[in-house]
Amino acid sequence: MAHIRQENTADYDAVHSVIEAAFANVPYSDQSEPQLVKRLRTSDAFIPELSLVAEVDGRIVGHILITKIQIKDGQREVPSLALAPVSVHPSHQGQGIGGALIRASHDIARTLGHQSIILLGHEDYYPRFGYRRTADFGISLPFEAPPENCMVIELETGSLSGVQGIVQYPGAFME
Ligand SMILES: CC(C)(COP(=O)(O)OP(=O)(O)OC[C@H]1O[C@@H](n2cnc3c(N)ncnc32)[C@H](O)[C@@H]1OP(=O)(O)O)[C@@H](O)C(=O)NCCC(=O)NCCS
Repeated sequence: MAHIRQENTADYDAVHSVIEAAFANVPYSDQSEPQLVKRLRTSDAFIPELSLVAEVDGRIVGHILITKIQIKDGQREVPSLALAPVSVHPSHQGQGIGGALIRASHDIARTLGHQSIILLGHEDYYPRFGYRRTADFGISLPFEAPPENCMVIELETGSLSGVQGIVQYPGAFME
């Protein structure tokens, strides 16, 4: 089984390779995910405890990054998190490693006091971890995307009650 731990700087090259390999054949990807991760690591949105790697036999085969975003609700800015990206090397996909990274990141985010995580992802994958459509909460993403792919999880039941609005991504997401 995979060992999950916080990423450190010595892991960056191996993580880059895993992300590149994971997204190489993903049709909806423009293969920019390794660059996105590089930008996010040096941005204010970065939370070191929420950049995790999965190792099997001492080799990094998976990575997940969760960073800070806001939900703009009128004049109010409600802190939230974005899950992007999660990557498992094709040689190790389908063995539960992606799921283990997602669950571990939820536990850490909850421990750190975060309330919710938002993502753009496949509608068949994320609901098993508790994600629901952002539209069910009155939350929208700031770009066109099918509603079934825009998802959010409350890390504590009810943590989004009374919260609605438009997600604001930091600049590092948009470059
Ligand atoms: C998505 C990803 C992280 C999942 O990791 P994984 O370790 O392969 O997933 P797990 O072993 O935990 O879960 C496997 C299940 O997820 C499903 N699944 C995996 N990738 C999926 C995808 N892109 N869309 C829908 N379902 C997916 C599998 O069909 C399998 O379903 P089952 O349990 O019903 O048989 C991994 O496949 C990956 O890196 N894919 C390429 C990059 C990508 O698309 N990342 C997500 C976008 S941010």
